[in-house]
Amino acid sequence: MATILDGKAHADHMLESVRRGVEVRRTQGLRAPGLAVVLVGDDPASHVYVRNKSAACTRVGITSIEHRLAMDTSQADLEALINQLNADPEVDGILVQLPLPKGLDSKRALHLISPAKDVDGFHPMNQGLLLEGLPGLRPCTPTACMSLLAHHGLELKGLRAVVLGRSEIVGKPMALMLLEQHATVTIAHSRTRDLPAVCREADLLVAAVGRPGLVEGSWIKPGAVVVDVGINRVDDLALGARIFAAEPKKLETLRAKGSVLCGDVRFGEAMQVASAVTPVPGGVGPLTIAGLLANTLLAADSPKG
Ligand code: GUN
Repeated sequence: MATILDGKAHADHMLESVRRGVEVRRTQGLRAPGLAVVLVGDDPASHVYVRNKSAACTRVGITSIEHRLAMDTSQADLEALINQLNADPEVDGILVQLPLPKGLDSKRALHLISPAKDVDGFHPMNQGLLLEGLPGLRPCTPTACMSLLAHHGLELKGLRAVVLGRSEIVGKPMALMLLEQHATVTIAHSRTRDLPAVCREADLLVAAVGRPGLVEGSWIKPGAVVVDVGINRVDDLALGARIFAAEPKKLETLRAKGSVLCGDVRFGEAMQVASAVTPVPGGVGPLTIAGLLANTLLAADSPKG
């Protein structure tokens, strides 16, 4: 039976370190770091994320400033707000919650955020620094996954890593961070031929595609470490019966509540093959927010200008 990699416990550990950093600033007479969150429209999942973010800010002493904009906000108004936040000396970090409503150009908006305040690490300047292996603000989820793996004591040098998914938020930066630690990295995706065989090569498998239960136990190399970044809500009983065959409690919850959260990996099956697995929920999810707040502290502590 594999070890469960407890993301919640590691997130608590990361948040405690941010809290101490905020405390050090206070003893130096510096103000609390400020994180501005811009939320456009009324996507329910985004509202949940933003609520969780502001609760975590309160816990570590970071000032959270929320800007809620209407669904029909224009690109010009969104950009005017970003410019205003870029110029605000009390704001250290800016996060524009994604996805933006249809009609808004998220790339344009994200590129406008000052690289020094880009706590998501999505600006081309920060992406370039990561590509070059230089310090900068790096995407929160992969940064926090790397921190979890380091904490778990996994030696990445020479290891075969497969990153399933090529998003700019997780897949691509995760692959670069693993490469930086001397892993041999394959990025696999929806067009990869014989995906199960590619995944079976992995000593470390990172799944970040947003497809519930895509990765079966038979795709996993015995003894591999599995990091499941997917957070999917399943309400289809037929799908649930298939992907939760080795996880009767999940299936029970789905039947009782009508829906259930799960990852891209069939957790019950993975537990029988892998050496360590992150659960969903309670794995990578809580780490993302911890990574964001670590970036906000880093941005506040970095020289401006
Ligand atoms: N929406 C879902 N995840 C994220 C994230 O990491 N950053 C932003 N800005 N929006 C998101």
